[in-house]
Amino acid sequence: MNLVVVGCGYVGLANALGFAKLGHRVACVDVDAGKVAKLDVGKMPFFEPGMPELLRQMQEAGRVVFTGDLGSVIGTAEAALVCVGTPPGEDGAPDLSQLFAATDEVARHLSHQLLLMVKSTVPCGTAAALRERFDAAGKGDLVRLASVPEFLREGRALADFFRPDRVVVGSDDGEVRAQVDSLHAGIEAPRFFMGHESAELAKYAANAFLATKISFINEIADLCERVGADVRDVEDVLGSDPRIGAAFLQPGLGYGGSCFPKDVGALHRLAGASGHDFRLLGAVIEVNNRQRERFVQKVVRALGGVKGRRLAAWGLAFKGGTGDVRQSAALDVIRALYAQGAEIVAYDPQAIPAAAEALPDGVIMAPTAVDACDGAEALLVLTDWPEFQEVSFDVVRDRLVEPRVFDGRNILDAAALRKRGFQYYGTGFGA
Ligand code: UDX
Repeated sequence: MNLVVVGCGYVGLANALGFAKLGHRVACVDVDAGKVAKLDVGKMPFFEPGMPELLRQMQEAGRVVFTGDLGSVIGTAEAALVCVGTPPGEDGAPDLSQLFAATDEVARHLSHQLLLMVKSTVPCGTAAALRERFDAAGKGDLVRLASVPEFLREGRALADFFRPDRVVVGSDDGEVRAQVDSLHAGIEAPRFFMGHESAELAKYAANAFLATKISFINEIADLCERVGADVRDVEDVLGSDPRIGAAFLQPGLGYGGSCFPKDVGALHRLAGASGHDFRLLGAVIEVNNRQRERFVQKVVRALGGVKGRRLAAWGLAFKGGTGDVRQSAALDVIRALYAQGAEIVAYDPQAIPAAAEALPDGVIMAPTAVDACDGAEALLVLTDWPEFQEVSFDVVRDRLVEPRVFDGRNILDAAALRKRGFQYYGTGFGA
């Protein structure tokens, strides 16, 4: 099939390269000319494992091209995937201007039958609004709409594309459902067919539920510290119950990234706008924000103030495995400690360029994890990068002024560090 993918972010590129690998010919469109120029010469605009290699392969095979001009590629397309951002608008509700700009452009150029799949996370009623816009443009009988929400995670976007937990297809039209299904041939995953509204809501519900699990375990972790329990034991007990499941029960600094904060906030707001007070989500958001503050307070209390104190920070990305710092808890913690006068030396395997732009100039970036520890009075672990577990803690102890670790992600071996003479502060278990 000839496909057009609109939007070259994580979702757009994973889909473009994934469908190209499955044998389709894909033209990728983006309004960011710099991004298009970079991709055109085989360079990735962000860090994502496996993508540079697949990009090169697909370009060499002639199965993927990049352009800023939708009009030049839509004429030969049988299907289009809209993968543009839906960031929070001023009122917190999703801003659909990029989506409407893209689909209006499709409508302007359309003169043949096209399957149009919305991958972007959008509120209920968006497909209906798009239908009206195509009708108003006189192109209603040419476009076949499907809501096909995307569930992939950053850091494992390609793995999630080829082996998703499910493919959700929102459309009431049997032919459209069959067309989307056949496009996904080669992807072994259960299909869920439903109406547009259900597909649109299911995506928000999935993210909100996962965020709820995280805030729940963060509350339990706080309680554990107060009563002398160990959240790691509680996690094991919870996770062994298949009705609960072990995933997303890792306490720490709270969730961040480009999706959870945006989508939980949007669902909370959209529910309110439709007359439903979704109180649970209000609490999920509040707990998540408080989690960063709790960690900062823990550090400040243990050190007796941070003014003029040098602290090493490991991790800037919103989670391990990505260079993305959007809504990163690590940055919030660093900003708060820096504002209280701490001297911060930070390291991250991928996120330094993005973090340097987002943080005050006074925050120093170190070339390695060990270098960040030089002369620091404490090490703060802010992102769950697996490589932090591989660092030699004998070397870290020699570089630090005080062998003190605040593990905001519970990724280090507390017992082993204490044996080596470290003061170790975890999340959700006592000293
Ligand atoms: C998420 C969803 O998982 C994905 O299905 C959706 O399509 C996009 O949003 P992503 O933003 O890539 O994906 O990150 P994810 O791996 O889900 O983690 C989100 C945040 O939660 C991160 O900040 C992570 O550190 C945090 N988290 C995750 C926890 O604090 N504890 C956990 O147990 C799991």
